[in-house]
Amino acid sequence: MLNVVIDDVIYKAHRGELLVDLISRTGGSIPHVCYHPQLGPIKTCDTCMVEVNGQLVRACTATANEGIEDIDEVLARLGCAG
Ligand code: FES
Repeated sequence: MLNVVIDDVIYKAHRGELLVDLISRTGGSIPHVCYHPQLGPIKTCDTCMVEVNGQLVRACTATANEGIEDIDEVLARLGCAG
């Protein structure tokens, strides 16, 4: 498990967990028009964009371990619109 900061709150994330799933699992809400857990990412709508470490990424394709080198102190910070 990793610690991930979402809007100033620390959550536990599974390594490799899609950010869209993590945000939903932790009670957040993020639009995701072309993503369905049983279909996987299609990457066509770009409604799921979030900010991770200052860069916009698709939450339906980015995972909790991207850009993380120290698994004890995860530096990812997600800014969810809405
Ligand atoms: S949900 Fe469509 S690009 Fe992520």
